[in-house]
Amino acid sequence: MGKIIVTGASGQFGHAAAKMLLERIPAEDLIVLSRTTDKLAEFVEAGAHVRQADFDDPASLIPAMEGGERMLLISTVRVGSRVEQHTAAVEAAKANGVKHVAYTSLLGVRTPGNPSVEGFDHLATEKMIEASGLAWTHLRNSLYAEAVATAMAIPALQAGHKPENAGDGRVPIVSRDDCVATAVGVLTQDGHANTSVDVTGPEMWTLPDAMKLISQMAGKPIEVEPVDDEGMFRYFDSLGVARKASDVVPDGPIPWASEGMVTFGQSIREGFMDVESDDVERIAGRKPRALKSVLEQYRHLWPR
Ligand SMILES: NC(=O)c1ccc[n+]([C@@H]2O[C@H](COP(=O)([O-])OP(=O)(O)OC[C@H]3O[C@@H](n4cnc5c(N)ncnc54)[C@H](OP(=O)(O)O)[C@@H]3O)[C@@H](O)[C@H]2O)c1
Repeated sequence: MGKIIVTGASGQFGHAAAKMLLERIPAEDLIVLSRTTDKLAEFVEAGAHVRQADFDDPASLIPAMEGGERMLLISTVRVGSRVEQHTAAVEAAKANGVKHVAYTSLLGVRTPGNPSVEGFDHLATEKMIEASGLAWTHLRNSLYAEAVATAMAIPALQAGHKPENAGDGRVPIVSRDDCVATAVGVLTQDGHANTSVDVTGPEMWTLPDAMKLISQMAGKPIEVEPVDDEGMFRYFDSLGVARKASDVVPDGPIPWASEGMVTFGQSIREGFMDVESDDVERIAGRKPRALKSVLEQYRHLWPR
């Protein structure tokens, strides 16, 4: 097997994936890319190839990807304009002879009618990778348990209140650790070319039930207020969040738009993430972590 590239190796997913790969392949077969390579000293010390790469700077990508055979493409965070970034990465990979791209997509994006604006980017990226002629694996990750345990739990516990438009829609919340282990499995095993993987946790959750568990564990109330999509938009308006990605002020205090969050909740409510799968256990070779175990890991960050 040739060299494996991991993009975005200073991010949480990319960093964990690169570390796990080091346990499976010789360090000289690992190429880690980042905009901030100074955060990657441990990989330099281990003997991996650490290279500067920014998807907004296509010229940086050609030397960065030299010698790679498989690539883990970590989706970026700029909803609405990240397809161009992903396209630059795939074009550079192809120009360098990379044969297979595994991409961190989102659960349910291929289901017709899914309203998730974040999903639109993932769907467009999946199609772009397929059209590139490279072998592909779409890693369709569910909602990260770590995001529930931090970005969702902390403000809800602080306010004691959470408007929610996801209703009783079910989502198989998954630990990012299990997403990483599944990605590493895909990169190091044969047989995953041109397939999609549904990366799901072991239990279906509604978001109000997840909040109930967090509230019980924290010993603090969270009143979940069911709202419709417009009510959810109004809540984010009150926090000063731009509605559309095109209105986000670059490098401003809130770098994301509420349409991503509101349509994500809508897609859960409408059942687009209600997907059951045993792909994690099949590929990672272990049972996925329960939400409660991830909440235990992060509860020290919760307000007291
Ligand atoms: N399913 C979910 O619940 C969920 C939740 C949150 C995020 N996500 C998605 O999953 C991805 C990984 O999650 P995470 O927790 O690791 O996020 P994170 O820690 O915020 O990392 C963001 C990633 O985007 C990369 N990136 C940003 N701009 C880039 C650019 N111009 N060129 C190259 N890479 C760029 C970063 O790479 P460097 O900084 O190393 O350059 C980093 O790997 C996210 O980026 C997002 O697309 C999914």
